Amino acid sequence: MTQAIDFKKSLRRQMRKARRSIKPAQQRQHAKGLLSTLRRLTQFRRSQNIALYLPSDGEISPEEVIDYCRKLGKQCYLPVLHPVRHNRLWFIPYNKDTVLINNIYGIKEPSLIKAPRRPAWALDLVLLPLVAFDEEGGRLGMGGGYYDRTFAFKQGWRKSGGTSLIGLAHDLQKVERLKTESWDIPLEGIATETRFYRAIQ
Ligand SMILES: Nc1ncnc2c1ncn2[C@@H]1O[C@H](COP(=O)(O)OP(=O)(O)OP(=O)(O)O)[C@@H](O)[C@H]1O
Ligand SMILES: [Mg+2]
Repeated sequence: MTQAIDFKKSLRRQMRKARRSIKPAQQRQHAKGLLSTLRRLTQFRRSQNIALYLPSDGEISPEEVIDYCRKLGKQCYLPVLHPVRHNRLWFIPYNKDTVLINNIYGIKEPSLIKAPRRPAWALDLVLLPLVAFDEEGGRLGMGGGYYDRTFAFKQGWRKSGGTSLIGLAHDLQKVERLKTESWDIPLEGIATETRFYRAIQ
């Protein structure tokens, strides 16, 4: 048990270091590659309400995706830490004029004042950041359990449609096999700068 926790901790440390070491020019290439991968994907093409994130800590950047969505009239959302419900996320529309503030982790998020919220289940697609992934849709996040708790409603009916969960990552974040816990919500697939890894048919 403690061995498994230590493994997760050291894998997180190693992968976060690896993605932070990607040079800015390479990051820009990956951001473009990621958009190409998503443009080929039916789940992305048919989604109108799409949640994503602002990159930090070397995460692959969805900023090209955001620009593209705005051009096409798709609505983007950003996650916001829930002010009351512990370790859960809310989703707020992200437009050109959205005011951003720093949250407790120093990550920029939209201000909650007067912001209309969208519940997680009413999103068509969520593009999640991650620290490591495997080809089966296993996801290792930063360790807060935020996404797992927010999407716990997907347990049991993940094949019956509803909100699609797709991870975004650099190829170098792929590992052979992640041990998943009972609370981990599997991803439908993972989009990287070169390809889409489809986990659930
Ligand atoms: N649905 C849930 N209900 C209660 N606790 C949960 C739930 N999902 C996860 N947790 C708790 O959150 C903690 C962190 O989970 P985990 O290690 O899977 O984080 P993670 O997936 O890496 O993080 P994140 O989802 O924020 O990126 C775990 O200790 C777990 O007990
Ligand atoms: Mg998890």
